Amino acid sequence: MIDYRPLRVAVLGAGSVGAQVADQLLTHRDELAARIGAGLELIGVAVRDLDAPRDTAIPRELLTTDAETLIVGADIVVELMGGLEPARTLILQALASGADVVTANKALLATHGPELFEAAAQVGAQLYYEAAVGGAIPIIRPLRDSLAGDRVQRILGIVNGTTNFILDRMDSHGESMEEALATATALGYAEADPTADVGGYDAAQKAAILASLAFHTLVPAEAVHREGITDITLEQVVAARKAGYVVKLLAICELLDDPVTGKPGVLARVHPALVPLAHPLAAVHGANNAIFVEAEAAGPLMFYGAGAGGIQTASAVLGDVVSAARRHVVGGPGVAESTHADLPVLPISAATTRYQISLTVADEPGVLATVAGILQQHGVSVETIQQAVSAPVGSGSVGEATLVIGTHEAVEADLAATVAALSSSSVVTAVTSVLRGEGL
Ligand code: NDP
Ligand code: HSE
Repeated sequence: MIDYRPLRVAVLGAGSVGAQVADQLLTHRDELAARIGAGLELIGVAVRDLDAPRDTAIPRELLTTDAETLIVGADIVVELMGGLEPARTLILQALASGADVVTANKALLATHGPELFEAAAQVGAQLYYEAAVGGAIPIIRPLRDSLAGDRVQRILGIVNGTTNFILDRMDSHGESMEEALATATALGYAEADPTADVGGYDAAQKAAILASLAFHTLVPAEAVHREGITDITLEQVVAARKAGYVVKLLAICELLDDPVTGKPGVLARVHPALVPLAHPLAAVHGANNAIFVEAEAAGPLMFYGAGAGGIQTASAVLGDVVSAARRHVVGGPGVAESTHADLPVLPISAATTRYQISLTVADEPGVLATVAGILQQHGVSVETIQQAVSAPVGSGSVGEATLVIGTHEAVEADLAATVAALSSSSVVTAVTSVLRGEGL
């Protein structure tokens, strides 16, 4: 029986995600009411342009350009506008009025998270954000609740659907990055400014959110080492496949001992990496995401599914709306941030991983030994080395060879020094590619 008053829900934004959320709230009204024990009344949907085409039919009378007035008196405000402002101000206003807030806005959380959580705590309101990482995949609740009694050691995953889609299309269709990005944008995967995707900013924001939750430490987005995919070439993707790898944009958050101080810290990094074809991450296609969590007692766990897309993300948003609504009806504990561990956040130089370095060198006696010597001097151990003559020895000209060196695990700082030494060596014409390898 439903005898609780209807809960007033305001949705801010009716783009890829917001239009689907509004549609689900209207279409599944009765079922949601039965699950919650109270009806959800969609009181309005704020947009910039009342006449813009929408992915779903939202009754005209629900649309408004006045978000500030819409949120007054709402019980639950669902922020799906994206960007920092006016999203931040509107969320602060909603929280101050006692409304619970649901958001998918990782850029905002990674930038102003502490301020927003503090504002929520001040009035006992809740801020939910399951959709901010991994699209439809439940990953925030598992980290915050299910694993709250365990100790997470490492998170490794694909957390940006757009870049995974692009790299996958380059690999499987030989498409250019520009072509694949255009398709990802048309499918509603990309951010309003896709630089956030291809530049690795979106993945870094998600890594900051995951690392903060997993290690009970505030990790700001700026502290995440970030490299996007803009420098990845079709040639690198093709060469990787020939060698038995795929290129993926990975987010890695780990507990490490700082090689300088010996003390534990948190390192979060986002960068393209070679992943062996046999690794489960290599089979993550399209805009899907996959996140491995390694916890001390639970061991390895894998979370997989749609990482982007309007309707898929709406699932996670609606889950938060239902949680918030149930709390209105039956009470229960709220979600609280936990930053008690307060570990230092380490620089990328503390990372340890494997590398593949590709070079062009003069095809002359002694060159291989010189190159191997440079790696040895910097403490980087060679695991594999492949050589191919890339230009024939012509009349009077010295031939060129391509070397592809796979290393054993090495410390990032040593690798950086090695690459610098190789670049300035007289026997090296060019360092053509340096890629980290994960799951090797
Ligand atoms: P869109 O760009 O598709 O939609 C944004 C919506 O917000 C539009 O309806 C726009 O109005 C409205 N809007 C923007 N600024 C204002 C403003 N100042 N006042 C009123 N309305 C405004 O974004 P998405 O739906 O793709 O993303 C929404 C959020 O969800 C973002 O934070 C994004 O990072 C996150 N997210 C997105 C996913 C996806 O797959 N797309 C997945 C996971 C999270 P109008 O239409 O009139 O221009
Ligand atoms: N642009 C984001 C992505 C949306 O491609 O992953 C989901 O957060």
